[in-house]
Amino acid sequence: MDADALRAATDGHAMSPAPNRKGLVLAGGTGSRLFPITLGVSKQLLPVYDKPMVYYPLSVLMLAGLREIAIITTPHDKPAFERLLGTGAQWGMSFTYITQPSPDGIAQVFLLAEEFLAGAPCSLVLGDNLFYGHGMSEMMVKAGARMTGATVFAHAVQDPRAYGVVVVDAYGKATEIVEKPENPPSNLAATGLYVYDDQVVPMAKILKPSARGELEITDLNRMYLEAGNLHVEVLGRGFAWLDTGTPSDLLKAAHLVEVLQERQGLMISCPEEIAFNMGFLTREGLIEAANRMGK
Ligand code: TTP
Repeated sequence: MDADALRAATDGHAMSPAPNRKGLVLAGGTGSRLFPITLGVSKQLLPVYDKPMVYYPLSVLMLAGLREIAIITTPHDKPAFERLLGTGAQWGMSFTYITQPSPDGIAQVFLLAEEFLAGAPCSLVLGDNLFYGHGMSEMMVKAGARMTGATVFAHAVQDPRAYGVVVVDAYGKATEIVEKPENPPSNLAATGLYVYDDQVVPMAKILKPSARGELEITDLNRMYLEAGNLHVEVLGRGFAWLDTGTPSDLLKAAHLVEVLQERQGLMISCPEEIAFNMGFLTREGLIEAANRMGK
């Protein structure tokens, strides 16, 4: 997110896309494509250039104006996330930690977070996804303001076969969504960012595990589609969307952050800066947060 876009979107003040909307960052999983690195440490705690990976998806939810966020981790990694992120008060936020005993699918998050959500609408981001581009905030706020239905954010990719693939009509509604298709019906991959209404928990409860034994987010999104209520925001070619699941992806993401930050002299996904610009933190709070980083 560039600084101008952020200021234009927020006018320097915190926004409430829906008064009680909450955020979920899914940061469990096995990270098996990064073995042996992830045998000892959670993928989402690995560095992407100068910050822990989880800062990037977390920043997207902050830019959407969400302050109450649950971080879902493995039981083993929870203490490390708590050490890193604390209560959230340092950024004017509130963090709750929820554990996922085993990686039984992305859509399981809604069952695990039922108590935290307490009937509120929510936005979910995968802990290994990195988004960067002009207009991200506005798109998130627009999607967050929809009180019914779900929104997925789609991005063109060279080879869609590894993703959930969506087809979208002229009105921004999905007409088809299919998981890892042999013959993709479009080149639009559903990214790891989703916005849901307050019906998501009861809908997730109806889901059946897929052939690979997981509660699939694509199946949940298809339920919204069949109800005529799945919106698609297409991230244009000016956006960068990376997932950081392989050694090569991780390196590419780090290079992108380094190149953009060095060239512009602006930070990508710096929670302190975003919290200040969104009005979550006072100037004193910002200085305090910066001082904690010492050198
Ligand atoms: P994946 O990249 O699909 O899975 P993974 O992170 O376990 O990695 P690998 O495929 O290399 O084994 O997961 C996408 C994101 O969702 C990632 O941030 C981890 C998270 N996730 C969970 O937290 N719980 C889950 O049950 C699943 C399936 C994913």
